[in-house]
Amino acid sequence: MNRLIIRTFVARMLLAASLLAWSSPYAQTTPAAPESAKGDPTRGKALYQACESCHSIDDNDIGPKHRGVVGRRAGSVPDYNYSAALKASGLSWDEANLDRWLSNPSALVPGTKMFFKIDDAQKRADLIAYLKEQK
Ligand code: HEC
Repeated sequence: MNRLIIRTFVARMLLAASLLAWSSPYAQTTPAAPESAKGDPTRGKALYQACESCHSIDDNDIGPKHRGVVGRRAGSVPDYNYSAALKASGLSWDEANLDRWLSNPSALVPGTKMFFKIDDAQKRADLIAYLKEQK
């Protein structure tokens, strides 16, 4: 990677992190969700703005497009240039694997080039609920 690409990448990571922190759809009036709560696709859609610094539903960008991702084999969008690690992972994106991925991509797939993670289990569930609807 040349410097410009690295700088763009870091800038997008920071943008995504700040979007996740500040444009959260969890208004002060929303009580903290219990750990077992189900994902809410409407909140997931708002949270997806953070992903959009690198992804979109229908176009490849820094990351691969997401339409149909739930249920698909990892690293399988034909015209996107994945890391060798993700391509060779043998994973498929069921909800459990997506949850592990969003918690810490490098822990699930060492060598991946996605470094963005989400600590909050409810936010992960909401994002997955939203992605599930993007068939
Ligand atoms: C800073 C950029 C960046 C951000 C922000 C980001 N991603 Fe990624 N994502 C990537 C890259 C790069 C890859 C490709 C990883 C590889 O090839 O190892 C990827 C891959 C993925 C994949 C695997 C898709 C496939 O086709 O196998 C999923 C799922 C995913 N991202 C979900 C998300 C979600 C959901 C968010 C928001 C919460 C998000 N990403 C935020 C850069 C990012």
